[in-house]
Amino acid sequence: DQKINIAIDGTSGVGKSTIADIVAEKLHMIHLDTGAMYRCVAYYLVSHQVDIHDPDALNQALADIHIRFDHKKVYLNDMDVSKAIRTNEISMATSKVAALEPVRKKMVALQQEIAKEKGYILDGRDICTVVLPDAEVKIFMSASPSARADRRYKEYRSQGIDANYDEILHDIEQRDYQDSHRTIGPLKKADDATEIDTSQMNIQQVVEAILQLIPIDK
Ligand code: C5P
Repeated sequence: DQKINIAIDGTSGVGKSTIADIVAEKLHMIHLDTGAMYRCVAYYLVSHQVDIHDPDALNQALADIHIRFDHKKVYLNDMDVSKAIRTNEISMATSKVAALEPVRKKMVALQQEIAKEKGYILDGRDICTVVLPDAEVKIFMSASPSARADRRYKEYRSQGIDANYDEILHDIEQRDYQDSHRTIGPLKKADDATEIDTSQMNIQQVVEAILQLIPIDK
């Protein structure tokens, strides 16, 4: 069987998801946005006001959470939450919720179950290190905090959304800190992952760099 998996890790706002979408389309693979899964969990816990420090309550909530992807939309218990999980409030909550052991256990198991058929591109924080350490292609995408804040700021402005550059930069740095300092599945480059620093690259250049890493007989 020549099917492969591609694992992509990287910081918040580095463009993993955009890139993974394009690469998946080009290679006829399926993109699994693992960040969206953690966002769904955070959305559920916030909207149901679950006390995350109560183990029983947390486990009950996790058992009640069903996540489904369909045509680029994300469904949480059959509700389309594609937009709702992208707010800044949920982004910050997700980074906290994703540090909880029961949450990571459930998400990692789900992701491994999905990817075992191969033909998947997973993007996240712990894909190369924990979820798919045996993926055929492993990539770590990075970009300076200011480059990422700059992109996010322009993205908001182009959508007519009010944005404050300093706040965006501050949030990015805070999520970087939270994601890389947690005990379980922290964000870090796997030793055998190829690092692509995208600070000075456009989307197409990053896609090209990744395609170069794909074994030709894919
Ligand atoms: O990639 P995205 O920004 O959507 O991820 C949202 C949050 O989910 C991250 O800040 C991180 O805390 C968490 N996450 C994670 N492990 C992954 C993917 C995302 O902890 N594999």
